[in-house]
Amino acid sequence: MTDTVLVVDFGAQYARLIARRVREAHVYSEIVPSSISVDEIRARAPKGIIFSGGPKSVYETPAPSIDAGIYELGIPILGLCYGAQLMALQLGGTVSRTGAGEYGRTALSLTASGGKSPLFPDWPATSSVWMSHGDAITEVPPGFVATASSPAAPVAAMHDVERRLFGLQFHPEVVHTDRGGEVFDHFLIDVCGCAPGWTHVSIIEQQVEAIRAQVGSDRVLCALSGGVDSAVAAALVHKAVGSQLTCVFVDTGLMRAGEADQVEDTFRRQFKVELVHVKAADRYFSALAGVTDPERKRKIIGELFIRIFEEVARDLGAGGSGSDGGGSGDGGGVAHGDGPRFLVQGTLYPDVIESGSDTAANIKSHHNVGGLPEDLDFELVEPLRLLFKDEVRAVGEELGLPHEIVWRQPFPGPGLGVRIIGEVTPERAEILRAADAVVVEEIRRAGLYRELWQSFAVLPAVRTVGVMGDGRTYAYPVVIRAVTSDDAMTADWARLPYDLVERIASRIINEVEGVNRVALDVTSKPPGTIEWE
Ligand code: XMP
Repeated sequence: MTDTVLVVDFGAQYARLIARRVREAHVYSEIVPSSISVDEIRARAPKGIIFSGGPKSVYETPAPSIDAGIYELGIPILGLCYGAQLMALQLGGTVSRTGAGEYGRTALSLTASGGKSPLFPDWPATSSVWMSHGDAITEVPPGFVATASSPAAPVAAMHDVERRLFGLQFHPEVVHTDRGGEVFDHFLIDVCGCAPGWTHVSIIEQQVEAIRAQVGSDRVLCALSGGVDSAVAAALVHKAVGSQLTCVFVDTGLMRAGEADQVEDTFRRQFKVELVHVKAADRYFSALAGVTDPERKRKIIGELFIRIFEEVARDLGAGGSGSDGGGSGDGGGVAHGDGPRFLVQGTLYPDVIESGSDTAANIKSHHNVGGLPEDLDFELVEPLRLLFKDEVRAVGEELGLPHEIVWRQPFPGPGLGVRIIGEVTPERAEILRAADAVVVEEIRRAGLYRELWQSFAVLPAVRTVGVMGDGRTYAYPVVIRAVTSDDAMTADWARLPYDLVERIASRIINEVEGVNRVALDVTSKPPGTIEWE
């Protein structure tokens, strides 16, 4: 068993970043709500606990709290910011509204009388840390000593070494704190005694074992989208159960250039996976004929995917009679015959955190494979549900997936269908795919592909006038859309170098027939969105 550290979430985004820092120190972390009971914590037997920061003041009502029995468990606890204040308050110290908060980079001074902190044993007398607090701990609880202070926080760090309880007013998890990463290393390894066993190799080993245990000798189905999550999930399942896996790739005619070939190359030729490649472009274009409303397009594309997937699944013998199909995981499988009983889903840990349940798997309307009909009652295999995106990529590389797949930018489920503004036709899809390939190729060549969250072409289906040679042209414009972002919730338009924009524009106009004008989208999100539809 891998050592586990629980990160108690007191709100906002802090917990997630802390959980990632712990994983970067090669220790497995899980985020839990502050309502967790002491019994549950004991049952999970973590080697350490970290309290996150949070947006509230400990004096607000209601402010998130935690069962004070947690301090009696003998498990080391590190409280950060709000978490430190809560610890101070619950153990008999004082937290005050001093009226002087600290936000941003702050000088931290070690307190001579406090002795060395095991969390930063060799830091200089002053260093720069990141603060974000209004209240401050003004008196440590009995048994604690203050080990550092800052101009507005008399107790910027405190501990009770005996009980292995630590509080920090600053945020070691953010990059603006000098040597913040060391705090986690010291806490996890020196204080908690964790073994740094959470590595990409161990993740793969554990998942392979878990998949084998879940699936037994049954067959498994996986829909590949061309994106990184479904590819890594499929590669993991393939490593675990080999030929029991069948992958389905539906070519909608709305994929990026080369995507279908890449899936073929990687999965059929490199991994030798049984791959059902459904060439469904004609069906998609017929279904989309005359449709211009973006939400209707999405619905049509999504529903057709489900119908096709269902057809493939039935051909393979999945679904059975729809009666009680021995879904208890005991390998009964009577109703399914030889057909696949399991469906792979590329759910990631952030999805799990967001849906607020880390218990039973339920099909989320995740990209393509949402809302499968109920009579195809699959059990889900979710080999990525413990992983953050960067871990998924690292695992993908470790499994030998090509860089292009592992580092591919996100792509909407409806694909080019929502990047053609207006009716989707085969000609327009072809034009957009060719223009998009130029954008991506030039951005890769400029070394910017990984830095950008997304970079692509959009085809507004209007005609603009131009002159080429002796004649006037009346052809489509193409828009270059490139953004930077952390999570797609907000995004900034990317300041691409002008010579790069120029190169993209002239290549598109010269190489892509049917385009006579190129524009650059300089809208951020908000007020814009990343996609045009
Ligand atoms: P917007 O355009 O809302 O996009 O700023 C945010 C992110 O979501 C992606 N996106 C979609 N993904 N199905 C998807 O699977 C969709 O219908 C869809 N629409 C937008 C978009 O590419 C961006 O990463």
